[in-house]
Amino acid sequence: MSSTITFEKARKEYPTGNGNVVALEGLDLHIEKGETVCFIGTSGSGKTTALKMINRLVEPTAGSVSIDGKTVTDFDLIKLRRSIGYVIQRGGLFPHLTVSENIGLLATLEKRDPNVIRNKTEELLDLVNLPREQFANRRPRELSGGQQQRVSIARALAFDPEIILMDEPFGALDPITKNELHDEFLKLKGVVDKTTIIVTHDLAEAFKLGDRAVLLNDGREIQTGTKDEFINKPANEFVERFVAAHSSGGSV
Ligand SMILES: Nc1ncnc2c1ncn2[C@@H]1O[C@H](COP(=O)(O)OP(=O)(O)O)[C@@H](O)[C@H]1O
Ligand SMILES: [Mg+2]
Repeated sequence: MSSTITFEKARKEYPTGNGNVVALEGLDLHIEKGETVCFIGTSGSGKTTALKMINRLVEPTAGSVSIDGKTVTDFDLIKLRRSIGYVIQRGGLFPHLTVSENIGLLATLEKRDPNVIRNKTEELLDLVNLPREQFANRRPRELSGGQQQRVSIARALAFDPEIILMDEPFGALDPITKNELHDEFLKLKGVVDKTTIIVTHDLAEAFKLGDRAVLLNDGREIQTGTKDEFINKPANEFVERFVAAHSSGGSV
């Protein structure tokens, strides 16, 4: 199961000590069921702000975000968060809990049947390629960065959400581990049908993982499209320069 996500003139201004910062200018975007879309742009361009509007970690100043046509503010907040998996850079795992406990934490807090939780946790460990006998009882500090991100992905899938949000999920990994996790992400996408949004500043990553990319700059959407469209039909000179700058290493 997966959902559509629609941004309508979604705008965010943050109050600061010296006036308001416009983090997002009024984003219009429709994401199809099961699509993977990457928000791309330099630091401070508004990617995280746009992402967090979906699970209501950020409330828009104006405009709206809806899931399957229903504005996110009309959902029960707990139910909304349960239906959206969330993966952040460096995992965000609880250091004092084991891998299994991290994955099953919310279900445990909800007092779900411990046997059901154990089975689901084991199934998720298999899915992200962490053999349970080796990993289930380790603490996060006993894992590599890549393994921590796998646990974080497993945790995001725990309630079988329809949407997965990932904020620079592979940003802190070395290039080899990153590549491995990219390939596994693509395999996983073939098995679990979720609408997925990935925030990244790595255009090669966006092109590899995303069906489409949304390029943001200073809170403005500059271009939305496929890799082919970005390369062959750049919206303007900014896009041309952005693509060229990211291709110079031969990575795009
Ligand atoms: N809580 C906040 N308070 C004030 N300004 C913020 C806050 N969060 C983000 N910003 C500002 O909003 C802009 C966009 O930030 P963000 O969405 O985090 O960008 P990105 O994820 O692309 O790096 C930046 O100028 C940032 O400084
Ligand atoms: Mg960010």
